[in-house]
Amino acid sequence: MTFNQSTILVTGGAGYIGSHAVLALKQAGYEVVVLDNLVYGHRELVEDVLKVELVVGDTCDRPLLDQIFATRNIAAVMHFAAYAYVGESVTEPAKYYHNNFIGTLTLLEAMLAASIKTFVFSSTCATYGVPNTVPIPENHPQNPINPYGATKLMIERVLQDFDRAYNFKSVCFRYFNAAGADPEGRLGEDHNPETHIIPLVLQTALGKRESVSIFGTDYPTSDGTCIRDYIHVTDLAQAHVLGLDYLLKGGETTVFNLGNGNGFSVKEVVEVAQQITGRTIKTVECDRRPGDPPALVGSSDHARTVLGWDPQYTDLHTIISHAWNWHQKRHG
Ligand SMILES: NC(=O)c1ccc[n+]([C@@H]2O[C@H](COP(=O)([O-])OP(=O)(O)OC[C@H]3O[C@@H](n4cnc5c(N)ncnc54)[C@H](O)[C@@H]3O)[C@@H](O)[C@H]2O)c1
Repeated sequence: MTFNQSTILVTGGAGYIGSHAVLALKQAGYEVVVLDNLVYGHRELVEDVLKVELVVGDTCDRPLLDQIFATRNIAAVMHFAAYAYVGESVTEPAKYYHNNFIGTLTLLEAMLAASIKTFVFSSTCATYGVPNTVPIPENHPQNPINPYGATKLMIERVLQDFDRAYNFKSVCFRYFNAAGADPEGRLGEDHNPETHIIPLVLQTALGKRESVSIFGTDYPTSDGTCIRDYIHVTDLAQAHVLGLDYLLKGGETTVFNLGNGNGFSVKEVVEVAQQITGRTIKTVECDRRPGDPPALVGSSDHARTVLGWDPQYTDLHTIISHAWNWHQKRHG
């Protein structure tokens, strides 16, 4: 058997952000193996577009993990696999604690047993809960208001303890709202069910949905709708390669926000989408959703300074254009 020195295991690599990270890793010269249970992932993106090995399986399956680590020379793990529906995490917390917490702990234990101690983790701005200040820095208090955010915070804590006890090195990336698609249209967002505003707006433009709901028009923002930080998925993927390089060069365990630094309101998203698609997008104004803060915008200065991260696609127009290109190809 031939071993490559730098094979990276990407869990959840058949999903939205993970697949873009696989592409960025390949472009950076890494060998990649994807582990995905395909509950939400897309086999054809891994096999036909990315053309890397796909192991169909679950992070809760310890014998499978042991077998993967025993038969490949894995240098590090990038862990995207998780369930990420905030509302469902409230009604079905057991599912989230099992998949996101037990699944991740099982993975970490298998890594330790195989002496693999380099880990890049998908955390979330949902660990902050309702912010006291905007833009949110990494040292902002973390008080998640739903089980989804809690599962991610628990893993962040586990990773600190693993570093102290086992010299296990990790980078946690707290993403804001991942958006957009590969600029060349090879990959993009295809969640089912979809809950993210940009794909919902574009599906409405394509006539796949009647209308898009705007939750709350009386927030203390310029146009009354919620402001969110949309970060292009290709910029997110690039940060992961930089985070991995940082750890492989001996970097210390740390946490980075990954956001655009600019917030955009829901109404702005709809307006820009109408300009790009040239179609009228019907909106329905609804009451606020409980727990939705008026503005969530991150400060990503730490990633810019330490990793030299320099996001390329920060303009809302570009983000939505790339997403529209993908949506037309995939669903048009
Ligand atoms: N999309 C966002 O805006 C956002 C924001 C913050 C954090 N995140 C985090 O980023 C990660 C990726 O998000 P995404 O939007 O790409 O989601 P996604 O659902 O598209 O991708 C997740 C992938 O993981 C797989 N998976 C889930 N549980 C698994 C398990 N136990 N074993 C193996 N495979 C499993 C799914 O089949 C899917 O392909 C998640 O951890 C999510 O919590 C996403």
